[in-house]
Amino acid sequence: MERTDYNGQLRSEQVGRQVSLVGWVHRRRDLGGLTFIDLRDRSGIVQLIFSPDLPELQRAAQRLGREDVIQVQGRLVRRSPGTVNPKLATGEVEVRVSQLEVLSRAKTPPFEIDDQLEALEQTRLEYRYLDLRRPVMQRNFKLRHQLLLAMRNFMDQAGFWEIETPMLTKSTPEGARDYLVPSRNFPGKFFALPQSPQLFKQLLMVAGFERYFQITRCFRDEDLRADRQPEFTQLDVEMSFIDSPEPVFDLTERLLQFVFDHTLDQAIETPFPRLSYHDALERFGTDRPDLRYGQELTDLAPVFAASSFKLFSQALKSGGAVKGLNAKGCGRYGRGEIGELEQRAVQEGVGGLIWFKLGSAGLESPIAKHLSQQELDALVQALEAQPGDLLLLSAGERPTVNRALGAVRSELARREGWADPQAWKFLWVMDFPLFQWDEEQGRLVSEHHPFTAPKVGDLPLLESEPLKVRASSYDPVVNGVELGSGSVRIHQRELQAKIFSLLGITPEAAEAKFGFFLRALEYGAPPHGGIALGLDRLIMLMAGAHSIRDVIAFPKTNTAYSPLTGAPVEVSPEQLRELSIRIERRG
Ligand code: AMO
Repeated sequence: MERTDYNGQLRSEQVGRQVSLVGWVHRRRDLGGLTFIDLRDRSGIVQLIFSPDLPELQRAAQRLGREDVIQVQGRLVRRSPGTVNPKLATGEVEVRVSQLEVLSRAKTPPFEIDDQLEALEQTRLEYRYLDLRRPVMQRNFKLRHQLLLAMRNFMDQAGFWEIETPMLTKSTPEGARDYLVPSRNFPGKFFALPQSPQLFKQLLMVAGFERYFQITRCFRDEDLRADRQPEFTQLDVEMSFIDSPEPVFDLTERLLQFVFDHTLDQAIETPFPRLSYHDALERFGTDRPDLRYGQELTDLAPVFAASSFKLFSQALKSGGAVKGLNAKGCGRYGRGEIGELEQRAVQEGVGGLIWFKLGSAGLESPIAKHLSQQELDALVQALEAQPGDLLLLSAGERPTVNRALGAVRSELARREGWADPQAWKFLWVMDFPLFQWDEEQGRLVSEHHPFTAPKVGDLPLLESEPLKVRASSYDPVVNGVELGSGSVRIHQRELQAKIFSLLGITPEAAEAKFGFFLRALEYGAPPHGGIALGLDRLIMLMAGAHSIRDVIAFPKTNTAYSPLTGAPVEVSPEQLRELSIRIERRG
Protein backbone atom coordinates (compact mmCIF):
# COMPACT_ATOMS: atom_id res chain seq x y z
CA MET A 1 0.00 0.00 0.00
CA GLU A 2 2.92 2.37 -0.47
CA ARG A 3 1.40 5.73 -1.20
CA THR A 4 3.86 8.00 -2.99
CA ASP A 5 2.22 11.40 -2.58
CA TYR A 6 -0.47 13.47 -0.93
CA ASN A 7 -2.98 14.36 -3.63
CA GLY A 8 -3.13 18.08 -3.00
CA GLN A 9 0.63 18.45 -3.33
CA LEU A 10 1.03 17.22 -6.91
CA ARG A 11 2.38 19.90 -9.25
CA SER A 12 3.44 20.22 -12.86
CA GLU A 13 7.15 19.90 -11.91
CA GLN A 14 6.49 16.24 -11.08
CA VAL A 15 4.88 15.45 -14.44
CA GLY A 16 5.93 12.08 -15.88
CA ARG A 17 6.21 10.34 -12.50
CA GLN A 18 4.47 7.09 -11.57
CA VAL A 19 2.32 7.78 -8.52
CA SER A 20 0.35 5.69 -6.06
CA LEU A 21 -2.46 7.62 -4.42
CA VAL A 22 -5.21 6.96 -1.89
CA GLY A 23 -8.33 8.85 -0.91
CA TRP A 24 -12.06 9.34 -1.15
CA VAL A 25 -14.06 9.72 -4.37
CA HIS A 26 -15.09 13.35 -4.16
CA ARG A 27 -16.91 13.57 -7.49
CA ARG A 28 -17.22 11.53 -10.69
CA ARG A 29 -18.00 12.80 -14.17
CA ASP A 30 -18.32 10.94 -17.46
CA LEU A 31 -17.46 13.27 -20.32
CA GLY A 32 -16.64 12.65 -24.00
CA GLY A 33 -15.94 8.98 -23.47
CA LEU A 34 -13.62 9.65 -20.53
CA THR A 35 -14.27 9.16 -16.82
CA PHE A 36 -12.97 11.77 -14.39
CA ILE A 37 -12.71 11.33 -10.66
CA ASP A 38 -11.71 13.97 -8.13
CA LEU A 39 -9.72 12.08 -5.54
CA ARG A 40 -9.62 13.75 -2.12
CA ASP A 41 -7.34 13.22 0.83
CA ARG A 42 -6.61 15.59 3.70
CA SER A 43 -4.19 17.62 1.59
CA GLY A 44 -6.64 18.36 -1.20
CA ILE A 45 -7.96 17.07 -4.51
CA VAL A 46 -6.37 15.74 -7.70
CA GLN A 47 -8.13 14.73 -10.89
CA LEU A 48 -7.91 11.09 -12.03
CA ILE A 49 -8.64 10.17 -15.60
CA PHE A 50 -9.83 6.79 -16.90
CA SER A 51 -9.89 6.27 -20.69
CA PRO A 52 -11.58 3.66 -22.92
CA ASP A 53 -8.09 2.24 -23.74
CA LEU A 54 -8.48 0.21 -20.56
CA PRO A 55 -12.20 -0.65 -20.79
CA GLU A 56 -12.39 -2.91 -17.73
CA LEU A 57 -10.66 -0.35 -15.55
CA GLN A 58 -12.94 2.41 -16.81
CA ARG A 59 -16.03 0.29 -16.10
CA ALA A 60 -14.74 -0.25 -12.54
CA ALA A 61 -14.28 3.50 -12.19
CA GLN A 62 -17.83 4.10 -13.43
CA ARG A 63 -19.12 1.87 -10.65
CA LEU A 64 -17.51 4.09 -7.99
CA GLY A 65 -19.81 6.18 -5.83
CA ARG A 66 -19.24 9.30 -3.79
CA GLU A 67 -16.99 8.72 -0.77
CA ASP A 68 -15.80 5.24 -1.79
CA VAL A 69 -12.21 4.80 -0.61
CA ILE A 70 -9.78 3.78 -3.33
CA GLN A 71 -6.14 3.38 -4.17
CA VAL A 72 -4.84 4.05 -7.68
CA GLN A 73 -1.59 3.76 -9.57
CA GLY A 74 -0.88 5.87 -12.60
CA ARG A 75 1.21 8.48 -14.33
CA LEU A 76 1.11 12.16 -13.52
CA VAL A 77 0.51 14.11 -16.75
CA ARG A 78 0.03 17.74 -17.70
CA ARG A 79 -3.54 18.77 -18.49
CA SER A 80 -4.17 20.04 -22.00
CA PRO A 81 -4.23 23.89 -22.00
CA GLY A 82 -8.01 24.15 -22.36
CA THR A 83 -8.67 21.96 -19.32
CA VAL A 84 -6.39 23.62 -16.76
CA ASN A 85 -8.35 24.53 -13.60
CA PRO A 86 -6.83 27.65 -12.05
CA LYS A 87 -9.07 27.32 -8.97
CA LEU A 88 -7.38 24.08 -7.92
CA ALA A 89 -3.82 23.92 -6.54
CA THR A 90 -3.35 20.75 -8.60
CA GLY A 91 -5.25 22.23 -11.54
CA GLU A 92 -2.41 21.92 -14.07
CA VAL A 93 -2.03 18.16 -13.70
CA GLU A 94 -4.03 14.94 -13.69
CA VAL A 95 -3.31 11.26 -13.17
CA ARG A 96 -3.79 8.71 -15.96
CA VAL A 97 -4.82 5.69 -13.96
CA SER A 98 -3.51 2.21 -14.77
CA GLN A 99 -4.65 0.35 -11.64
CA LEU A 100 -7.53 0.76 -9.26
CA GLU A 101 -8.34 -0.95 -6.01
CA VAL A 102 -11.47 -0.30 -3.96
CA LEU A 103 -10.49 -0.24 -0.29
CA SER A 104 -13.91 0.51 1.12
CA ARG A 105 -17.40 1.24 -0.21
CA ALA A 106 -19.53 4.10 1.11
CA LYS A 107 -23.27 4.42 1.40
CA THR A 108 -24.62 7.60 -0.20
CA PRO A 109 -23.79 10.29 2.37
CA PRO A 110 -26.68 12.38 3.77
CA PHE A 111 -25.04 15.57 2.47
CA GLU A 112 -22.35 16.53 -0.02
CA ILE A 113 -18.82 16.77 1.27
CA ASP A 114 -18.47 20.33 0.13
CA ASP A 115 -17.50 23.68 1.59
CA GLN A 116 -20.79 25.23 0.53
CA LEU A 117 -22.88 23.09 2.79
CA GLU A 118 -26.59 23.62 3.25
CA ALA A 119 -27.24 20.69 5.57
CA LEU A 120 -28.85 21.27 8.94
CA GLU A 121 -26.53 21.57 11.91
CA GLN A 122 -28.27 18.59 13.53
CA THR A 123 -27.44 16.36 10.53
CA ARG A 124 -23.89 17.69 10.30
CA LEU A 125 -23.29 16.84 13.95
CA GLU A 126 -24.97 13.44 13.71
CA TYR A 127 -22.67 12.49 10.82
CA ARG A 128 -19.79 14.56 12.17
CA TYR A 129 -17.14 12.25 10.64
CA LEU A 130 -18.52 13.19 7.20
CA ASP A 131 -18.85 16.86 8.07
CA LEU A 132 -15.21 16.84 9.18
CA ARG A 133 -14.16 15.51 5.77
CA ARG A 134 -15.07 18.83 4.20
CA PRO A 135 -11.93 20.70 3.08
CA VAL A 136 -12.79 23.75 5.18
CA MET A 137 -13.04 21.62 8.30
CA GLN A 138 -9.79 19.84 7.54
CA ARG A 139 -8.14 23.25 7.24
CA ASN A 140 -9.63 24.37 10.56
CA PHE A 141 -8.21 21.38 12.40
CA LYS A 142 -4.83 21.69 10.76
CA LEU A 143 -4.77 25.29 11.94
CA ARG A 144 -5.85 24.18 15.42
CA HIS A 145 -3.00 21.68 15.57
CA GLN A 146 -0.47 24.24 14.36
CA LEU A 147 -1.67 26.80 16.84
CA LEU A 148 -1.46 24.44 19.83
CA LEU A 149 1.99 23.32 18.74
CA ALA A 150 3.22 26.90 18.34
CA MET A 151 1.81 27.81 21.75
CA ARG A 152 3.51 24.92 23.45
CA ASN A 153 6.81 25.80 21.79
CA PHE A 154 6.52 29.44 22.77
CA MET A 155 5.57 28.69 26.37
CA ASP A 156 8.43 26.23 26.68
CA GLN A 157 10.87 28.82 25.35
CA ALA A 158 9.52 31.36 27.81
CA GLY A 159 10.33 29.01 30.70
CA PHE A 160 6.83 27.68 31.47
CA TRP A 161 6.19 24.05 32.37
CA GLU A 162 3.01 22.28 31.32
CA ILE A 163 1.49 20.62 34.37
CA GLU A 164 -1.81 18.76 34.36
CA THR A 165 -4.41 19.41 37.00
CA PRO A 166 -7.32 17.12 37.98
CA MET A 167 -10.48 16.67 35.96
CA LEU A 168 -12.25 15.01 38.89
CA THR A 169 -12.20 17.74 41.46
CA LYS A 170 -14.19 20.04 43.66
CA SER A 171 -16.47 22.81 42.50
CA THR A 172 -14.41 25.81 41.26
CA PRO A 173 -15.65 29.35 41.51
CA GLU A 174 -16.03 30.65 37.94
CA GLY A 175 -19.69 31.34 38.44
CA ALA A 176 -21.34 28.81 36.10
CA ARG A 177 -23.09 25.59 37.09
CA ASP A 178 -20.87 22.56 37.60
CA TYR A 179 -20.97 19.27 35.78
CA LEU A 180 -21.07 16.73 38.59
CA VAL A 181 -19.72 13.18 38.70
CA PRO A 182 -21.10 10.86 41.38
CA SER A 183 -18.63 8.94 43.51
CA ARG A 184 -19.05 5.16 43.92
CA ASN A 185 -16.76 4.95 46.95
CA PHE A 186 -18.46 7.79 48.79
CA PRO A 187 -22.20 7.38 48.29
CA GLY A 188 -24.03 10.67 48.00
CA LYS A 189 -20.84 12.61 47.25
CA PHE A 190 -19.82 14.16 43.96
CA PHE A 191 -16.80 15.33 42.09
CA ALA A 192 -17.15 18.40 39.90
CA LEU A 193 -15.49 18.72 36.52
CA PRO A 194 -13.29 21.83 36.62
CA GLN A 195 -14.73 25.11 35.31
CA SER A 196 -11.07 26.12 35.10
CA PRO A 197 -7.84 25.10 36.85
CA GLN A 198 -7.90 28.39 38.80
CA LEU A 199 -7.23 27.13 42.32
CA PHE A 200 -4.85 24.39 41.22
CA LYS A 201 -2.69 26.79 39.24
CA GLN A 202 -2.49 29.04 42.27
CA LEU A 203 -1.50 26.02 44.37
CA LEU A 204 1.22 25.28 41.80
CA MET A 205 2.60 28.75 42.51
CA VAL A 206 2.59 28.02 46.25
CA ALA A 207 4.30 24.75 45.28
CA GLY A 208 7.18 26.75 43.83
CA PHE A 209 6.86 25.98 40.11
CA GLU A 210 6.94 29.72 39.34
CA ARG A 211 5.82 29.47 35.70
CA TYR A 212 3.01 27.11 34.73
CA PHE A 213 0.85 26.64 31.69
CA GLN A 214 -1.64 24.06 30.54
CA ILE A 215 -3.71 23.54 27.42
CA THR A 216 -6.71 22.19 29.18
CA ARG A 217 -10.37 21.37 28.95
CA CYS A 218 -12.83 23.30 31.12
CA PHE A 219 -16.46 22.38 31.79
CA ARG A 220 -19.31 24.76 32.42
CA ASP A 221 -23.01 24.08 32.50
CA GLU A 222 -24.20 27.45 31.20
CA ASP A 223 -26.43 28.85 28.47
CA LEU A 224 -24.75 28.17 25.15
CA ARG A 225 -24.34 30.27 22.02
CA ALA A 226 -22.02 30.51 19.03
CA ASP A 227 -18.96 31.22 21.17
CA ARG A 228 -19.78 29.00 24.14
CA GLN A 229 -19.63 25.24 24.56
CA PRO A 230 -20.11 23.14 27.70
CA GLU A 231 -16.55 21.90 27.32
CA PHE A 232 -13.93 24.14 25.81
CA THR A 233 -10.18 24.58 25.84
CA GLN A 234 -8.09 27.20 27.58
CA LEU A 235 -4.47 28.09 27.46
CA ASP A 236 -4.13 28.53 31.21
CA VAL A 237 -1.12 30.45 32.54
CA GLU A 238 0.17 31.50 35.95
CA MET A 239 3.40 33.15 37.03
CA SER A 240 4.98 33.98 40.39
CA PHE A 241 6.70 37.09 41.69
CA ILE A 242 4.57 39.57 39.80
CA ASP A 243 2.61 42.34 41.45
CA SER A 244 1.27 44.10 38.36
CA PRO A 245 -0.34 43.03 35.08
CA GLU A 246 2.68 44.13 33.03
CA PRO A 247 4.51 40.76 32.84
CA VAL A 248 1.26 39.06 31.80
CA PHE A 249 0.58 41.71 29.14
CA ASP A 250 4.07 41.33 27.76
CA LEU A 251 3.94 37.53 27.71
CA THR A 252 0.47 37.39 26.12
CA GLU A 253 1.34 39.93 23.44
CA ARG A 254 4.52 38.09 22.50
CA LEU A 255 2.69 34.77 22.52
CA LEU A 256 -0.07 35.98 20.20
CA GLN A 257 2.49 37.62 17.94
CA PHE A 258 4.40 34.33 17.76
CA VAL A 259 1.38 32.16 16.98
CA PHE A 260 -0.05 34.54 14.38
CA ASP A 261 3.34 34.61 12.72
CA HIS A 262 3.77 30.83 12.83
CA THR A 263 0.28 29.85 11.74
CA LEU A 264 -1.16 32.62 9.56
CA ASP A 265 2.14 34.24 8.63
CA GLN A 266 0.60 37.45 9.84
CA ALA A 267 2.10 40.29 11.84
CA ILE A 268 0.01 41.73 14.64
CA GLU A 269 0.72 45.07 16.26
CA THR A 270 2.00 45.20 19.81
CA PRO A 271 1.76 46.53 22.44
CA PHE A 272 -2.04 46.31 22.45
CA PRO A 273 -3.84 49.54 23.33
CA ARG A 274 -5.32 49.62 26.82
CA LEU A 275 -8.73 50.80 27.84
CA SER A 276 -10.24 50.92 31.29
CA TYR A 277 -13.52 49.11 31.81
CA HIS A 278 -15.08 52.50 32.56
CA ASP A 279 -13.86 54.07 29.31
CA ALA A 280 -14.80 50.98 27.27
CA LEU A 281 -18.39 51.32 28.45
CA GLU A 282 -18.49 55.08 27.99
CA ARG A 283 -16.99 55.05 24.50
CA PHE A 284 -18.28 51.78 23.06
CA GLY A 285 -21.08 50.66 25.35
CA THR A 286 -19.44 47.28 25.94
CA ASP A 287 -16.46 45.81 27.77
CA ARG A 288 -15.37 44.04 24.59
CA PRO A 289 -15.30 46.77 21.97
CA ASP A 290 -14.61 46.12 18.33
CA LEU A 291 -11.95 48.68 17.42
CA ARG A 292 -12.04 47.89 13.72
CA TYR A 293 -14.41 50.81 13.31
CA GLY A 294 -15.06 54.12 15.08
CA GLN A 295 -18.56 55.51 15.56
CA GLU A 296 -17.96 55.96 19.28
CA LEU A 297 -20.65 57.00 21.70
CA THR A 298 -20.64 60.72 22.50
CA ASP A 299 -21.83 62.24 25.74
CA LEU A 300 -24.30 64.96 24.80
CA ALA A 301 -24.77 66.44 28.27
CA PRO A 302 -22.94 69.64 27.22
CA VAL A 303 -25.29 70.02 24.23
CA PHE A 304 -28.52 69.54 26.14
CA ALA A 305 -27.54 70.85 29.60
CA ALA A 306 -30.16 73.60 29.44
CA SER A 307 -32.64 71.84 27.16
CA SER A 308 -36.33 72.33 27.62
CA PHE A 309 -37.01 68.99 25.96
CA LYS A 310 -38.36 66.94 28.86
CA LEU A 311 -36.84 63.58 28.03
CA PHE A 312 -33.36 65.08 27.97
CA SER A 313 -33.67 67.48 30.86
CA GLN A 314 -35.18 64.84 33.14
CA ALA A 315 -32.52 62.26 32.31
CA LEU A 316 -29.78 64.77 33.05
CA LYS A 317 -31.43 66.13 36.19
CA SER A 318 -31.78 62.67 37.69
CA GLY A 319 -28.08 61.89 37.16
CA GLY A 320 -28.59 59.96 33.93
CA ALA A 321 -27.15 60.52 30.49
CA VAL A 322 -28.03 61.69 27.00
CA LYS A 323 -25.69 60.07 24.50
CA GLY A 324 -25.57 59.58 20.78
CA LEU A 325 -23.65 58.10 17.92
CA ASN A 326 -23.25 59.02 14.29
CA ALA A 327 -24.37 56.26 11.93
CA LYS A 328 -22.23 57.55 9.07
CA GLY A 329 -23.98 57.50 5.73
CA CYS A 330 -27.13 55.85 7.10
CA GLY A 331 -29.35 58.85 6.42
CA ARG A 332 -30.98 56.73 3.70
CA TYR A 333 -32.51 54.46 6.35
CA GLY A 334 -36.26 54.41 6.34
CA ARG A 335 -38.74 53.95 9.15
CA GLY A 336 -38.40 50.16 9.05
CA GLU A 337 -34.66 50.06 9.49
CA ILE A 338 -34.65 52.72 12.18
CA GLY A 339 -37.43 50.79 13.90
CA GLU A 340 -35.32 47.65 13.92
CA LEU A 341 -32.39 49.53 15.44
CA GLU A 342 -34.71 50.96 18.05
CA GLN A 343 -35.94 47.45 18.86
CA ARG A 344 -32.35 46.44 19.51
CA ALA A 345 -31.90 49.40 21.87
CA VAL A 346 -35.15 48.72 23.68
CA GLN A 347 -34.05 45.12 24.29
CA GLU A 348 -31.20 46.60 26.32
CA GLY A 349 -33.60 48.52 28.50
CA VAL A 350 -33.90 52.08 27.14
CA GLY A 351 -37.27 53.61 26.30
CA GLY A 352 -36.39 54.23 22.67
CA LEU A 353 -34.08 55.84 20.15
CA ILE A 354 -34.33 59.35 18.82
CA TRP A 355 -33.13 59.94 15.29
CA PHE A 356 -31.89 62.91 13.34
CA LYS A 357 -31.00 63.03 9.66
CA LEU A 358 -28.76 65.70 8.28
CA GLY A 359 -30.13 66.84 4.94
CA SER A 360 -29.63 69.95 2.82
CA ALA A 361 -32.24 71.81 4.92
CA GLY A 362 -30.53 70.97 8.20
CA LEU A 363 -31.46 68.41 10.82
CA GLU A 364 -34.66 66.53 10.32
CA SER A 365 -36.15 64.68 13.28
CA PRO A 366 -39.53 64.00 14.90
CA ILE A 367 -38.32 66.01 17.89
CA ALA A 368 -36.55 68.83 16.03
CA LYS A 369 -39.34 71.27 16.90
CA HIS A 370 -38.71 70.76 20.62
CA LEU A 371 -35.07 71.83 20.35
CA SER A 372 -33.51 75.21 19.83
CA GLN A 373 -31.45 75.99 16.74
CA GLN A 374 -28.47 76.38 19.02
CA GLU A 375 -28.95 72.84 20.33
CA LEU A 376 -29.35 71.45 16.83
CA ASP A 377 -26.15 73.16 15.69
CA ALA A 378 -24.26 71.94 18.74
CA LEU A 379 -25.51 68.40 18.11
CA VAL A 380 -24.25 68.46 14.51
CA GLN A 381 -20.92 69.66 15.77
CA ALA A 382 -20.64 67.18 18.67
CA LEU A 383 -21.31 64.19 16.42
CA GLU A 384 -19.37 65.66 13.49
CA ALA A 385 -22.40 65.09 11.30
CA GLN A 386 -22.28 65.52 7.55
CA PRO A 387 -25.07 65.43 5.00
CA GLY A 388 -26.31 61.86 4.60
CA ASP A 389 -25.59 60.88 8.21
CA LEU A 390 -28.06 59.42 10.67
CA LEU A 391 -27.68 60.45 14.32
CA LEU A 392 -29.09 58.14 16.96
CA LEU A 393 -29.64 59.33 20.52
CA SER A 394 -30.86 57.82 23.71
CA ALA A 395 -31.53 59.17 27.20
CA GLY A 396 -31.91 57.44 30.53
CA GLU A 397 -29.76 55.79 33.16
CA ARG A 398 -26.14 55.94 32.12
CA PRO A 399 -25.30 52.19 32.13
CA THR A 400 -28.48 51.37 30.20
CA VAL A 401 -27.91 54.11 27.62
CA ASN A 402 -24.33 52.93 27.12
CA ARG A 403 -25.38 49.31 26.69
CA ALA A 404 -28.22 50.18 24.31
CA LEU A 405 -26.12 52.43 22.07
CA GLY A 406 -23.31 49.85 22.18
CA ALA A 407 -25.73 47.24 20.84
CA VAL A 408 -26.94 49.66 18.15
CA ARG A 409 -23.32 50.37 17.19
CA SER A 410 -22.58 46.65 16.66
CA GLU A 411 -25.83 46.12 14.80
CA LEU A 412 -25.02 49.03 12.46
CA ALA A 413 -21.53 47.62 11.88
CA ARG A 414 -23.05 44.28 10.96
CA ARG A 415 -25.50 45.84 8.52
CA GLU A 416 -23.03 48.29 7.00
CA GLY A 417 -19.99 46.02 6.92
CA TRP A 418 -17.94 48.58 8.87
CA ALA A 419 -15.50 45.99 10.22
CA ASP A 420 -12.64 44.99 7.93
CA PRO A 421 -12.68 41.16 8.02
CA GLN A 422 -8.90 41.10 7.42
CA ALA A 423 -8.05 43.37 10.35
CA TRP A 424 -6.97 42.27 13.83
CA LYS A 425 -7.64 44.87 16.51
CA PHE A 426 -6.44 43.66 19.88
CA LEU A 427 -6.75 45.59 23.10
CA TRP A 428 -6.63 45.13 26.85
CA VAL A 429 -9.70 46.05 28.82
CA MET A 430 -8.59 46.52 32.41
CA ASP A 431 -9.52 47.80 35.86
CA PHE A 432 -12.85 46.02 36.02
CA PRO A 433 -14.81 46.62 39.19
CA LEU A 434 -13.89 44.04 41.85
CA PHE A 435 -17.53 43.49 42.77
CA GLN A 436 -20.96 43.80 41.30
CA TRP A 437 -24.22 44.08 43.18
CA ASP A 438 -26.45 41.07 42.63
CA GLU A 439 -30.06 42.26 42.95
CA GLU A 440 -31.52 38.78 43.24
CA GLN A 441 -29.20 37.59 45.96
CA GLY A 442 -29.00 41.01 47.61
CA ARG A 443 -25.23 40.79 48.00
CA LEU A 444 -21.93 41.61 46.36
CA VAL A 445 -20.58 39.08 43.87
CA SER A 446 -17.15 38.94 42.22
CA GLU A 447 -16.92 40.41 38.75
CA HIS A 448 -14.05 38.04 37.83
CA HIS A 449 -13.54 35.51 40.64
CA PRO A 450 -12.96 35.92 44.39
CA PHE A 451 -9.18 35.37 44.11
CA THR A 452 -8.60 38.53 42.09
CA ALA A 453 -6.59 41.22 43.86
CA PRO A 454 -8.01 44.71 44.30
CA LYS A 455 -5.94 47.56 42.90
CA VAL A 456 -3.62 48.62 45.70
CA GLY A 457 -4.74 52.25 45.51
CA ASP A 458 -8.38 51.25 45.99
CA LEU A 459 -7.80 49.12 49.11
CA PRO A 460 -8.98 51.89 51.48
CA LEU A 461 -12.44 51.77 49.80
CA LEU A 462 -12.90 48.06 50.39
CA GLU A 463 -15.17 48.39 53.44
CA SER A 464 -16.68 51.82 52.81
CA GLU A 465 -17.43 51.76 49.08
CA PRO A 466 -16.78 48.25 47.81
CA LEU A 467 -18.54 48.89 44.49
CA LYS A 468 -15.96 51.58 43.70
CA VAL A 469 -13.01 49.23 44.21
CA ARG A 470 -11.28 48.33 40.96
CA ALA A 471 -9.66 44.95 40.41
CA SER A 472 -6.19 44.28 39.14
CA SER A 473 -7.79 42.34 36.32
CA TYR A 474 -7.68 42.42 32.56
CA ASP A 475 -9.28 40.88 29.47
CA PRO A 476 -7.60 40.63 26.08
CA VAL A 477 -10.22 41.49 23.46
CA VAL A 478 -9.97 41.14 19.69
CA ASN A 479 -12.45 42.36 17.08
CA GLY A 480 -15.24 42.54 19.65
CA VAL A 481 -14.62 39.09 21.16
CA GLU A 482 -13.45 38.44 24.71
CA LEU A 483 -10.45 36.23 24.14
CA GLY A 484 -9.42 35.68 27.72
CA SER A 485 -9.33 36.90 31.23
CA GLY A 486 -6.82 37.18 34.00
CA SER A 487 -5.73 39.01 37.10
CA VAL A 488 -3.13 39.57 39.74
CA ARG A 489 -4.21 37.32 42.62
CA ILE A 490 -4.59 37.75 46.31
CA HIS A 491 -1.71 35.99 48.05
CA GLN A 492 -2.37 37.12 51.61
CA ARG A 493 -4.64 34.97 53.74
CA GLU A 494 -6.14 37.97 55.60
CA LEU A 495 -7.09 39.87 52.47
CA GLN A 496 -8.64 36.72 51.00
CA ALA A 497 -10.69 36.29 54.20
CA LYS A 498 -11.85 39.91 54.00
CA ILE A 499 -12.97 39.46 50.38
CA PHE A 500 -14.94 36.37 51.33
CA SER A 501 -16.63 38.23 54.13
CA LEU A 502 -17.54 41.12 51.80
CA LEU A 503 -19.01 38.53 49.43
CA GLY A 504 -21.17 37.31 52.30
CA ILE A 505 -19.32 33.98 52.53
CA THR A 506 -19.09 33.01 56.21
CA PRO A 507 -15.75 31.72 57.56
CA GLU A 508 -17.41 28.29 57.92
CA ALA A 509 -18.61 28.28 54.31
CA ALA A 510 -15.22 29.51 53.10
CA GLU A 511 -13.52 26.73 55.05
CA ALA A 512 -15.88 24.08 53.65
CA LYS A 513 -15.44 25.22 50.05
CA PHE A 514 -11.91 26.55 49.87
CA GLY A 515 -10.25 25.49 53.14
CA PHE A 516 -7.58 23.52 51.28
CA PHE A 517 -6.67 26.61 49.31
CA LEU A 518 -6.78 29.09 52.18
CA ARG A 519 -4.45 26.86 54.18
CA ALA A 520 -1.95 26.91 51.32
CA LEU A 521 -1.87 30.72 51.51
CA GLU A 522 -0.51 30.31 55.08
CA TYR A 523 2.60 28.46 53.94
CA GLY A 524 4.55 31.00 51.95
CA ALA A 525 2.51 31.97 48.90
CA PRO A 526 4.50 34.12 46.45
CA PRO A 527 2.82 37.09 44.82
CA HIS A 528 1.38 35.74 41.58
CA GLY A 529 -0.97 36.33 38.70
CA GLY A 530 -1.96 34.92 35.36
CA ILE A 531 -4.41 34.62 32.54
CA ALA A 532 -6.46 32.11 30.56
CA LEU A 533 -7.14 32.41 26.84
CA GLY A 534 -10.17 30.77 25.25
CA LEU A 535 -8.51 28.80 22.48
CA ASP A 536 -11.66 27.76 20.65
CA ARG A 537 -12.59 31.43 20.24
CA LEU A 538 -9.11 32.34 19.05
CA ILE A 539 -9.03 29.53 16.51
CA MET A 540 -12.57 30.35 15.37
CA LEU A 541 -11.50 33.92 14.58
CA MET A 542 -8.26 32.85 12.93
CA ALA A 543 -10.10 30.30 10.78
CA GLY A 544 -12.75 32.85 9.83
CA ALA A 545 -15.43 30.56 11.27
CA HIS A 546 -18.69 31.86 12.73
CA SER A 547 -19.04 29.41 15.59
CA ILE A 548 -16.58 27.62 17.88
CA ARG A 549 -18.42 24.44 16.87
CA ASP A 550 -16.51 24.65 13.57
CA VAL A 551 -13.17 24.30 15.35
CA ILE A 552 -14.14 21.66 17.94
CA ALA A 553 -14.06 18.15 16.51
CA PHE A 554 -17.07 16.77 18.36
CA PRO A 555 -19.08 19.67 19.75
CA LYS A 556 -22.50 19.72 21.33
CA THR A 557 -25.61 21.56 20.20
CA ASN A 558 -26.87 24.70 21.90
CA THR A 559 -28.87 22.47 24.23
CA ALA A 560 -25.66 20.69 25.31
CA TYR A 561 -26.56 17.51 23.47
CA SER A 562 -24.46 15.34 21.15
CA PRO A 563 -26.43 14.24 18.07
CA LEU A 564 -23.51 11.93 17.24
CA THR A 565 -23.46 9.77 20.35
CA GLY A 566 -26.87 10.72 21.72
CA ALA A 567 -25.26 11.78 25.01
CA PRO A 568 -26.45 12.50 27.59
CA VAL A 569 -28.27 9.18 27.94
CA GLU A 570 -29.92 7.19 30.67
CA VAL A 571 -27.76 4.61 32.41
CA SER A 572 -28.60 1.11 33.58
CA PRO A 573 -30.26 0.48 36.95
CA GLU A 574 -27.11 -1.43 37.99
CA GLN A 575 -24.91 1.58 37.34
CA LEU A 576 -27.25 3.77 39.37
CA ARG A 577 -27.37 1.23 42.21
CA GLU A 578 -23.58 1.11 42.37
CA LEU A 579 -23.58 4.87 42.71
CA SER A 580 -26.36 4.83 45.31
CA ILE A 581 -28.44 7.06 43.07
CA ARG A 582 -32.19 6.92 42.63
CA ILE A 583 -33.83 8.91 39.85
CA GLU A 584 -36.97 10.75 40.86
CA ARG A 585 -38.93 12.13 37.94
CA ARG A 586 -40.65 15.41 38.56
CA GLY A 587 -43.62 16.88 36.70
P1 AMO B 1 -12.83 33.10 32.28
O1 AMO B 1 -13.96 32.47 33.00
O2 AMO B 1 -13.01 34.52 31.87
O3 AMO B 1 -11.52 33.10 33.21
O4 AMO B 1 -12.45 32.23 31.02
C1 AMO B 1 -11.33 32.58 30.20
C2 AMO B 1 -11.71 32.49 28.73
O5 AMO B 1 -12.21 31.21 28.41
C3 AMO B 1 -13.15 31.32 27.34
N1 AMO B 1 -14.45 30.73 27.73
C4 AMO B 1 -15.18 29.93 26.94
N2 AMO B 1 -14.99 29.50 25.69
C5 AMO B 1 -15.90 28.68 25.15
N3 AMO B 1 -17.00 28.24 25.81
C6 AMO B 1 -17.25 28.65 27.08
N4 AMO B 1 -18.33 28.19 27.71
C7 AMO B 1 -16.32 29.54 27.70
N5 AMO B 1 -16.23 30.14 28.90
C8 AMO B 1 -15.09 30.85 28.91
C9 AMO B 1 -13.31 32.79 27.03
C10 AMO B 1 -12.82 33.43 28.32
O6 AMO B 1 -12.34 34.73 28.12
N6 AMO B 1 -9.70 31.12 35.68
C11 AMO B 1 -9.99 32.32 34.92
C12 AMO B 1 -8.76 32.86 34.21
C13 AMO B 1 -7.75 33.49 35.12
O7 AMO B 1 -8.13 34.31 35.97
O8 AMO B 1 -6.55 33.20 34.93
C14 AMO B 1 -11.05 31.99 33.87
O9 AMO B 1 -11.36 30.85 33.60
O10 AMO B 1 -12.45 33.14 25.96
